[in-house]
Amino acid sequence: MTNVVVIGSQWGDEGKGKIVDWLSERADIVVRFQGGHNAGHTLVIDGTSYKLSLLPSGVVRPGKMAVIGNGVVVDPHALIAEIDKLEKQGVKITPENLRIADNATLILSLHRELDGIREDAASTSNSGVKIGTTRRGIGPAYEDKVGRRAIRVMDLADVETLPAKVERLLTHHNALRRGLGEAEISHDSIMQELTSVAERVLPFRDTIWLLLDKQRRRGARILFEGAQGSLLDIDHGTYPFVTSSNTVAGQAAAGSGMGPGALGYVLGITKAYTTRVGEGPFPTELDDEIGQFLGERGREFGTVTGRKRRCGWFDAALVRQSVATNGITGIALTKLDVLDGLDELKICVGYKLDGQDIDHLPASQGQQARVEPVYITLEGWKESTVGARSWADLPAQAIKYVRQVEALIGAPVALLSTSPERDDTILVTDPFED
Ligand code: IMP
Repeated sequence: MTNVVVIGSQWGDEGKGKIVDWLSERADIVVRFQGGHNAGHTLVIDGTSYKLSLLPSGVVRPGKMAVIGNGVVVDPHALIAEIDKLEKQGVKITPENLRIADNATLILSLHRELDGIREDAASTSNSGVKIGTTRRGIGPAYEDKVGRRAIRVMDLADVETLPAKVERLLTHHNALRRGLGEAEISHDSIMQELTSVAERVLPFRDTIWLLLDKQRRRGARILFEGAQGSLLDIDHGTYPFVTSSNTVAGQAAAGSGMGPGALGYVLGITKAYTTRVGEGPFPTELDDEIGQFLGERGREFGTVTGRKRRCGWFDAALVRQSVATNGITGIALTKLDVLDGLDELKICVGYKLDGQDIDHLPASQGQQARVEPVYITLEGWKESTVGARSWADLPAQAIKYVRQVEALIGAPVALLSTSPERDDTILVTDPFED
């Protein structure tokens, strides 16, 4: 039985929501394995739109189980707010359809506050690096996880040991806050915060590796829903302008407790051009009217923060890199229709670095800032591709563009999405049937 891992192959916002929703209809279980409520997408089901940030997509579909794995950082306030909002829309969320790893790390209000303080400080001084985070506390929570002082879901149930854990956490945070000139946080306020959410969170907790192992053995179809994109990966992305988790497909195993041999098909969601929110290098960025055209036509505004996304040509060198680092089996190419009407299209095939040709983005921050894209130019098409449901509906130049993308990145198109509507999808290979 094939399981499927869905990841973003660029800087996030590739249109994973629609594809994950489309695949979740075929899955029994949908698992998040990294990130937190910094992700965000809107699902439209039977005319009703649902906004999800932390909860896996499967949660809005009756009969599916949604799982938050240990690799996710869980803000209990965001979790409760999202559950309540969905319940108001008629979606029942119970331990029957949502399970949360007991060993997942919690994001607390102190993490969210610290994220904001650091971003503000970096904007007004030269001492920090402004990342342009979502200010949700994601980075600070992962820091505490790796620093072995995090409060985890299971700790909410352990009233005996919780005070000592909070003490350890605060020793670190209050030292940090003193250094930043911020008021210290009291032990009582954190204890209160934790006890106020415990009752709502604890019913969902489970031993996720065990649950997935049992389900996998009985033949359940498991869909792993990645958040952000491979170029925001803490190791493989454009460091330090990255998120704080591993976003590549391998994390589906580590972030859920299912062995990598059982992961199956890796579907890389890939936008037909490139976008990025937040700071950091972007070799094919367009600061001209074409960039503006892509932003407007593609409605490129962040789902979580509402920020305008930076736009540019398709960077095949970057996606080729993602094909390798994720082991992508096939891609879902999205937003091809946004390119309709352009006279010519450019695709970046590699870079020039200090006069030398290179075929991949180097890891060094300085070199990433210096690379210049090397382009090939293709003829555009005038016809609309919106809503195309078969290859026959596509203009010849659009097919040429898609074939060129496949050849340059070294992976085939499994799905082609031609509008935000679920059914406007050309299916070449069903990842669950491969
Ligand atoms: P953080 O994940 O909030 O720490 O933000 C770190 C970087 O990742 C920033 O550049 C954010 O804009 C970016 N980022 C985080 N989540 C997303 C996402 O869902 N889509 C696109 N970019 C994201």
